Amino acid sequence: MEYFNLISKRYSVRSYKPDPVEDEKLQKVLEAARLAPTADNRQPFQLIIIHTSGKEADLRKIYNRDWFLQAPLIICAVGVPRLSWVRRDNRRYLDVDVAIVMDHLILEATNLGLGTCWIAAFNSSAARDVLGLPEEIEPLIFTPLGYPADQPSMKTRKPLTELVRYERW
Ligand SMILES: Cc1cc2nc3c(=O)[nH]c(=O)nc-3n(C[C@H](O)[C@H](O)[C@H](O)COP(=O)(O)O)c2cc1C
Repeated sequence: MEYFNLISKRYSVRSYKPDPVEDEKLQKVLEAARLAPTADNRQPFQLIIIHTSGKEADLRKIYNRDWFLQAPLIICAVGVPRLSWVRRDNRRYLDVDVAIVMDHLILEATNLGLGTCWIAAFNSSAARDVLGLPEEIEPLIFTPLGYPADQPSMKTRKPLTELVRYERW
């Protein structure tokens, strides 16, 4: 898909078909994530692939929405703070790195006709518990991965005049 068309097509999918995701497509989506840039190329992340079927009750503890459980797959992006780059003033770039990784993954999913939805409003302690995450690992973003069963709505975005400044604040 042409890039601008692709970024226009992506939307938060909140209804999924039960159809399985082909393994070839899953591998492409994961490869797109792998190619993401990270600060100092530290790659301080892991992706956890969860098959939804049979795990609905546990997954509901993480994010209690019916649509979250509809897709055949859920992906959780976790950060590994000890691997991440920290600027001289102690600003850690872990969240930025993981966001770029997730954006790569999500855009490739869109390119392949798959739906996704960024989810940050999950229950972090339930995620730790259900996924067996060690203390030092940070769950940052979830997304379902499956075929969309809904339609995009109109995008509401601020105009560029409210978002861009030239030369100085
Ligand atoms: C970092 C981040 C966290 C988000 N968390 C949630 C969430 O927890 N639940 C949800 O339904 N949508 C979540 N969203 C989706 C946004 O609400 C959505 O991207 C925004 O409203 C724009 O709509 P669009 O994605 O359809 O273009 C999140 C998006 C981002 C980028």
